[in-house]
Amino acid sequence: MKRILRKLWFVIFSLLIFSMESEWCNGEETADEVAIMEKTEKEALYNAIQGFLGNWWNGSDLYPDPCGWTPIQGVSCDLINEFWYVTDLSIGPLHDNSLTCTKNPDFRPQIFELKYLKSLSFYNCFISPHNLVTLPGNNWEKLATRLETLEFRSNPSLIGSLPTVFSNLQQLQSLVLIENGITGTLPTDIGNLVHLKRLVLSGNNFTGRIPETIGSLKELLILDMSRNSLSGYLPTSIGYLNSLLKLDLSNNMFMGNIPSNVGNMKNLTLLDLRGNNITGGLTKSIEELESLQELVLSDNQIGGEISKIDWQKLQNLMILDLSNLGLSGEFPKSMIKLKKLRYVGLGNNHLTGFLPSEIAKMSGVSAVYVNGNNLTGELKFSEVFYQRLGRRFGAWNNPNLCYASGLMSTRHSPIGVKPCKSEDILVNTNMKYELSGDNGNVLRQHAAWIPSTTASNILNADYISSLGLLSCRIEGLWWVLLLESLMIVMLLNYFL
Ligand SMILES: *[C@@H]1O[C@H](CO)[C@@H](O)[C@H](O)[C@H]1NC(C)=O
Ligand SMILES: *[C@@H]1O[C@H](CO)[C@@H](O)[C@H](O)[C@H]1NC(C)=O
Ligand SMILES: *[C@@H]1O[C@H](CO)[C@@H](O)[C@H](O)[C@H]1NC(C)=O
Ligand SMILES: *[C@@H]1O[C@H](CO)[C@@H](O)[C@H](O)[C@H]1NC(C)=O
Ligand SMILES: *[C@@H]1O[C@H](CO)[C@@H](O)[C@H](O)[C@H]1NC(C)=O
Repeated sequence: MKRILRKLWFVIFSLLIFSMESEWCNGEETADEVAIMEKTEKEALYNAIQGFLGNWWNGSDLYPDPCGWTPIQGVSCDLINEFWYVTDLSIGPLHDNSLTCTKNPDFRPQIFELKYLKSLSFYNCFISPHNLVTLPGNNWEKLATRLETLEFRSNPSLIGSLPTVFSNLQQLQSLVLIENGITGTLPTDIGNLVHLKRLVLSGNNFTGRIPETIGSLKELLILDMSRNSLSGYLPTSIGYLNSLLKLDLSNNMFMGNIPSNVGNMKNLTLLDLRGNNITGGLTKSIEELESLQELVLSDNQIGGEISKIDWQKLQNLMILDLSNLGLSGEFPKSMIKLKKLRYVGLGNNHLTGFLPSEIAKMSGVSAVYVNGNNLTGELKFSEVFYQRLGRRFGAWNNPNLCYASGLMSTRHSPIGVKPCKSEDILVNTNMKYELSGDNGNVLRQHAAWIPSTTASNILNADYISSLGLLSCRIEGLWWVLLLESLMIVMLLNYFL
């Protein structure tokens, strides 16, 4: 309602200005000192927008002077040789009065007549499942000399493959296609887009391999192809992208080794390969990634020794997720020297040996998961440590692990670990901890208590009362964990 009123008001206002203008014009034909817009440019703009918004939208009525008096939300212009030209066009409900698409939007060829267009973006525009739209397959060359930014975000009904003509957009610096329905393989010619700084293709359904030509994109800072169905080996040429800051290839079907030249990417701050089918052990050259802040390799079949990497070389590391990789060996002491480390995820591997008590000295650490391994011996952390980490110290599912219970109140005992000596209730009741894995997010790891009750246990009154107590404690912790995960996810989003 508010919207309609505003529009009505705008029409009246525009008409008023129009009538005033025509009166002035009737007076005298003066040299026009105000910049104007060529009729063809104006018509192209109206037409292009109308294609996305529907025929009800009459630009010449609503916005007679789109680069001047009556600006359109989402349209920016520049003065070029004393004429206005459209440079930015942004369609979709970003703001209250943005241009919002109709149910059956369509690309009109006029959009390619906006020859000074530098930035074109669509957000939440192609969304109707009954109206699938493919990207136009030609005319893009008309924008080739100027277009720097092309973005499609959250357009599930935008389908089809990436048109090969995209590779003619030589000036493109940012190609962002997030959460659309785009399929097919990545064109080899993508390597022609040599000025790309940001290539983000996440959340589509691209298939096939990453072409070797990717290595030509020397200026690339962000490469994100996460959440597609890409497969095959990671091309060695990725290692040539040495200006890269973020590399996210998570949740695809990549196989083979982590390329041995990965360490060339000296400025890399994020390496995320989780949820693939990567094998071949940890690549030694990872330790050369001196800028790395987040290393997430979880849910692969990497295997091999965890201590193959000299972890202390990664002095900027804040988040390390190596869970579910089939890693063996002991908890690497060299990790303890990482001063910035906050999150250590080593769950569900084949780690053995003791957990060094020096972990407690890592002041920045707020989460340590070593659950689902084969660690042995006694945990020698203080109650203060368990209290500080609480639920974020995960050591359950290590059958040969116990904690020194001596001076500790059971309130802060490590979850799912039995005390070493005393014949505590927990030892007798045969508790089982199950880890419900999830590749959704690194930090969304959580455990649920599944008490395996046997007839004899049920008869044990002590057991029943202790179970009641425990389950309510766990519920409380669940909330804390959920909140924490949310906060961390928000933080992560902020950093990405
Ligand atoms: C917009 O309205 C004007 C008159 O108000 C009309 O002449 C013009 O054809 C309309 N344009 C479109 C694209 O419908
Ligand atoms: C992606 O494409 C592959 C192969 O064409 C198909 O098997 C798969 O179901 C698709 N996935 C989604 C989420 O659409
Ligand atoms: C890495 O970052 C530094 C500092 O920001 C910069 O000077 C250098 O050029 C970058 N290296 C590459 C290869 O882009
Ligand atoms: C991973 O690789 C193995 C063997 O190469 C194969 O059997 C399995 O299906 C692959 N898994 C995925 C998720 O691609
Ligand atoms: C765990 O370690 C113990 C002794 O260190 C060994 O006997 C046992 O077989 C290991 N279990 C697994 C599942 O590797």
